[in-house]
Amino acid sequence: MKHLLPALILFASIPAGIELSRADAPVGPHLGRAASAGEIARFDINVFPDGTGLPPGSGSVAQGKLIYDRQCLACHGEGGTGSSADPLAGAEMGLTGEWPDQTIGTYWPYATTLFDFNRRSMPMDKPGLLTNDNTYAITAYLLYLNGIIDEETTLDAGTLMQVKMPNRDGFINVWENERQKK
Ligand code: HEC
Repeated sequence: MKHLLPALILFASIPAGIELSRADAPVGPHLGRAASAGEIARFDINVFPDGTGLPPGSGSVAQGKLIYDRQCLACHGEGGTGSSADPLAGAEMGLTGEWPDQTIGTYWPYATTLFDFNRRSMPMDKPGLLTNDNTYAITAYLLYLNGIIDEETTLDAGTLMQVKMPNRDGFINVWENERQKK
């Protein structure tokens, strides 16, 4: 009897033969509103490893240094060697070392996704601040600090796609594997 009681109460509370129709289904609390095309465009900024999504614009290593010193140095240190935030360059133990230091040069497989990361999330205290030109410039400076491009380089969509990162083949490339299956 002890075990039957809760079951009986449960059945008693549902009147027989009643089914919820669509019209009776609970409606939403009507919070928020549809995002505008402009708002969606602001978030629709993915750049893929193959360069799809790279915007027009360009920036040089020299311009990138000016931006770095103003917007990034406080956290990432002089020349990207690290401070309160991670070092971005200057690995003492390189890719061929047993325990490579993690920097852009020893870690990132694509320069295109480095552009994406910089544009969407840095500077950490003001993400979204970098224009397309400034993002090309800062990406150029970071690649220069890592010895990947030379000091005279100006990057745009075309030149950025041509950059081959030293650790390109150090990852299991799920993206490429999936693409080849199609
Ligand atoms: C307020 C501090 C701060 C500022 C300013 C800042 N960053 Fe960062 N940055 C961080 C932190 C913290 C991380 C680590 C974030 C994480 O791991 O998710 C980071 C991570 C990064 C990374 C990834 C590092 C890696 O090893 O993968 C890059 C690249 C980067 N920042 C670039 C920049 C650039 C470019 C600027 C300037 C435009 C900038 N950051 C300004 C705090 C900062």
